[in-house]
Amino acid sequence: MWTNFPLFPERASTIAGGVDALYFFLVAVALFFSTLIFAAIFYFAIKYRRRPGVAARPIEGSLALELVWSLIPLGIVMVMFTWGAGLYFRNSAPPPDAIDIYVVGKQWMWKLQHPEGAREINELHVPVGRPVRLIMTSQDVIHSFYIPAFRIKNDVLPGRYSTVWFEATRAGEYHLFCAEYCGNQHSGMRGRVVAMEPARYEEWLAGGPAGESLAVAGERLFRRLGCTNCHLPGAGSRGPVLVGLYGKPVPLEDGKIVRAEEAYIRESILNPRAKVVAGYPAIMPTFQGQISEEGMVEIIAYIKSLRRGSE
Ligand code: CUA
Repeated sequence: MWTNFPLFPERASTIAGGVDALYFFLVAVALFFSTLIFAAIFYFAIKYRRRPGVAARPIEGSLALELVWSLIPLGIVMVMFTWGAGLYFRNSAPPPDAIDIYVVGKQWMWKLQHPEGAREINELHVPVGRPVRLIMTSQDVIHSFYIPAFRIKNDVLPGRYSTVWFEATRAGEYHLFCAEYCGNQHSGMRGRVVAMEPARYEEWLAGGPAGESLAVAGERLFRRLGCTNCHLPGAGSRGPVLVGLYGKPVPLEDGKIVRAEEAYIRESILNPRAKVVAGYPAIMPTFQGQISEEGMVEIIAYIKSLRRGSE
């Protein structure tokens, strides 16, 4: 197939080829049947035009015809469904070794935070050939994070995390858009994605303003908010110890089990009664309104960094 079909954005991610192939298939099917229908309309209009002494004979039921126009479309839509679902599942499951980058959308800019501490506005630097997972949330209304060249687009919602992943295949600069109408500066909520060779990316990370890493900033916030009083080893087990928590299954009071991922950690900070860990009293106060979205990202990065043996 064409590496760059005219009229289409560049293909610069591992996902792009598969998305385009499915898209071309859908367009081809639609074109084929539109052509067939229009040709049939003209053909029959001429063949059965009104002439003296000639009358069309209507067909009064035909099992063979019914089967043909039921089974062929069924077959075609099943192909679309299995192909599309397969692609969807592949594209929605990030590889486990993906780099996590946090995205906060707000009217009207994108704020991006790398775990090492680099912060960007309306610009995203990523390495080529490495999967990147974006953990995204909004500070106000619904936005949508859209990189056409990577064929990814995902809504960014206030009050929860959504994730999307990609792996850039070619170094270069690509458009970044907001794809959900979010107010009168929506069209200005755009930026660029810079995909770089891994060595250059490392240089870029190191060359930025020497900011502290997200985890370090998160630890400071963690202490300031008093989380250490209950959640670190030796705190008298008033609350569950968070060391080694991230990614692990957590048994809850009601017998359910949740995996300790971003969404769960966030919910437990803002709404601690929603999921109470088995064996602990529901005494944690809410921190609603006390932590900004960026602060939340830092605390989560800190909790992620608390691995066993790193105490
Ligand atoms: Cu943000 Cu449109």
